[in-house]
Amino acid sequence: MNLKDLFIDYFVSLGHKQIPSAPVVPENDPSVLFNTAGMQPLIPYLMGQTHPYGTRLCDYQKCIRTNDLDSVGDTTHHTFFEMLGNWSLGDYFKNESIKYSFDFLTKHLNIPVERLAVTVFAGNNLIPFDEVTYNEWITLGINESRIAKTVEDNFWIAGPTGPCGADTEIFYFRSEDEIPDKFDPEDNRWVEIWNNVFMEFYKHEDGSITELPKKNVDTGMGLERVVAVLEGVNDNYESSVWKDIIKVIEKVSNKEYKDNKQSMRIIADHIRTAVFISADNSGIKPSNTDQGYILRRLIRRAIRHAKKLNINIDSNWEEEIAIAIIDKYEKYYSEIKQNKNIVLEVLKNEKIKFNKTLEKGLREFEKITNNLSNNVLDKDLAFKLYDTYGFPIELTVELADELNISVDVEGFKDKFKAHQELSRTASAGKFKGGLAGNSEIETKYHTATHLLNAALKVVVGDYVHQKGSNITTERMRFDFSCDHKLTDEEKIKTEALVNKWIKDGLNVTVTEMSKEEAINSGAECMFIEKYPDIVTVYSIGDVSKELCGGPHVKNTSEIGTFKITKEEASSAGVRRIKAIIE
Ligand code: SER
Repeated sequence: MNLKDLFIDYFVSLGHKQIPSAPVVPENDPSVLFNTAGMQPLIPYLMGQTHPYGTRLCDYQKCIRTNDLDSVGDTTHHTFFEMLGNWSLGDYFKNESIKYSFDFLTKHLNIPVERLAVTVFAGNNLIPFDEVTYNEWITLGINESRIAKTVEDNFWIAGPTGPCGADTEIFYFRSEDEIPDKFDPEDNRWVEIWNNVFMEFYKHEDGSITELPKKNVDTGMGLERVVAVLEGVNDNYESSVWKDIIKVIEKVSNKEYKDNKQSMRIIADHIRTAVFISADNSGIKPSNTDQGYILRRLIRRAIRHAKKLNINIDSNWEEEIAIAIIDKYEKYYSEIKQNKNIVLEVLKNEKIKFNKTLEKGLREFEKITNNLSNNVLDKDLAFKLYDTYGFPIELTVELADELNISVDVEGFKDKFKAHQELSRTASAGKFKGGLAGNSEIETKYHTATHLLNAALKVVVGDYVHQKGSNITTERMRFDFSCDHKLTDEEKIKTEALVNKWIKDGLNVTVTEMSKEEAINSGAECMFIEKYPDIVTVYSIGDVSKELCGGPHVKNTSEIGTFKITKEEASSAGVRRIKAIIE
């Protein structure tokens, strides 16, 4: 049995309901490109909303973190990973949570207690030392010398604001060395394997902390790391998670892993992430913005490393690797199976596109770097590599780095911006991952998108449907199906109707129902197949009803004045409105 099944079976036996992994592209959180943690799709429930599956949940969640994409190639970094987690939504708290984790590790994974150590929140001026957690570990038989107290590392929050709380981290001694009596969390022979967060607070924009309606538990265990640890390998890629995939890369390249580790790791990691992004029902395709740009970078970097291994790029190497990945994961993620052909097509099309210019681009790069008078590749040359040969700037930087040449990245970015209006969300800030949404203003914008959707249906026609949306603290963007440019009259009427509804002070209410019931009741939704069987439906007075995870304002009067700032084409048959709230 593998770790995923063991974990789920264990928590199900303790009364938890398994919830399906949310898509890698968040459905209701436009502030991040990808889901970066198991708890992210659960934020509304950690904030107090009732979860349709109850108060004890567990899952394995697809996560993507691209903030240290460039570190991939070493033994531990991955852009995609699976996070195992269990949650208590106002059900059990510290003692049970710690005991459950301890029993799973020692009785089910048979880890000897001597190999375990933990950290506990030491206390600061806002929140006291976590004595309950400390005492529970002692009761379970963890030696005092194996408990370290910290402040920073024992307080968990997904971004600057949001649900948060003290946590306790569990470490495993991975070395063959004699286990030191005293635990030092900085000693990297101790590897963190599990994080139990006791989410009882909410951090606000002004830095203040208030209590959440309920005391929750949020735990997370990174699957790749734990499997490597349990299998006693120091290189994650030698664990059973990666072995089969690496074997296929050895076959298609006719080379051995031991002599080509870095390139093979990059190919394995990047193709796996590309498979999961393109299999997502949100339909992401390689492009130059947002998730599409990440997808493009991943595929292009994998291709470049395949070339380094002398793989014949025209052969179907990428398909063989992708199929090995799909075979491995399809049992757990049905969309991987359903969208297999889409995935293979995305990879192939991007490969064909990039391969047309890759060879010439590499020759150009060589020419450029041979003729440099100093060790700096200037912005014009970097831009040429991008514009003419399709080299993402990060790829140019990586190539240059191998020759100890630096690149004027800032200059490139200025030039790039001047050349093309880069969508706000694609700018550096958004690549960091982590959670920034759910602020008051974003919540207002969120409710405003529902009103706009409803207003467009009245003014333009019932056939209007939402095709996408994006919210920042400064504005909202709303894409909708529509066959014509909106007339001035339509724009004015739409804006006026939204403002009328805001003035009317309509109550926003949320109810749970089965997906079928929701559809039959005429609730609006974007991609019905993406929702679980039980859904939450937000109604605004009797003007709007939509499937949605929230959060929303309680009454439309909180929103302010709504103003359309722009109406433009987005793609064929899709128009885009940008609007602000004043
Ligand atoms: N939210 C915590 C983490 O991501 C535990 O799930 O580590």
